Amino acid sequence: MNRLTLTHLRKLKTNGEKITVLTVYDASFAHWLDQAGIEILLVGDSLGMVIQGHDSTLPVTMEQIIYHSQAVARGSQRALIVADLPFMSYATPAQALDNAARLLREGHAQVVKLEGGKWLLDTVKLLTDRGIPVCAHLGLLPQSVHQLGGYLIQGRSEAAADSLRQEALALQAAGASLLVLECVPSQLAADITAALTIPVIGIGAGPACDAQVLVLYDMLGLTPGKRPSFSKDFLQATGAGTIPNALQAFITAVKTGTFPGPEHSFN
Ligand code: KIV
Repeated sequence: MNRLTLTHLRKLKTNGEKITVLTVYDASFAHWLDQAGIEILLVGDSLGMVIQGHDSTLPVTMEQIIYHSQAVARGSQRALIVADLPFMSYATPAQALDNAARLLREGHAQVVKLEGGKWLLDTVKLLTDRGIPVCAHLGLLPQSVHQLGGYLIQGRSEAAADSLRQEALALQAAGASLLVLECVPSQLAADITAALTIPVIGIGAGPACDAQVLVLYDMLGLTPGKRPSFSKDFLQATGAGTIPNALQAFITAVKTGTFPGPEHSFN
């Protein structure tokens, strides 16, 4: 197995080199992302929206994530594969262990991602103690959209920011290897990134994060309707002309720190 490892990604963080991450759901795109040099392929449950046409990620099932993860694994050789545990597939630690094992064994992922803070600490410890690497996810949690009251920026009050800082440190202490921060103010994301030793992957979280992730269909301008303000169409806006060129434009922009700009970030 010659895929990139978590050790490699931690070294990139230590050396101050930015890490590139994109969502992907099929073998052909996985091939092109891998060829371009994207370091992490995220089989996100965003597939419920961009592939299946739902208005949230909630309908996505374990079987569907496994199916897409298998395709991504077949299409790629180098990138680390992170697969989402879908809604209600990790409601208890025992259920999380069974389903996370399926994502590694059947889906051929190397890391599983789950959304949430304090309530997941025992689960993160259980999974990592059993040899399953975990990517935590804080800030805007799309699986909790109904509880949050919409796709809204998180961590704007001092109390909410404090609790995100505490939860990030606690998830790292419980064993998480990566952390996604979604739609939080740039300064808060910068503070959390500096406080953690694990790589922090931002989406709508400003330029200071160690890594940047976008939904593939958004950054290629394929998603119908309005693109999220934190995203950028790298095919149109850069005049890339081809998908491989758009992927290179994304990599260059992330590695040189020109993406995300202030217009893609929140205060
Ligand atoms: O499902 C997904 O695509 C994600 C990213 C937006 C981080 O979780």
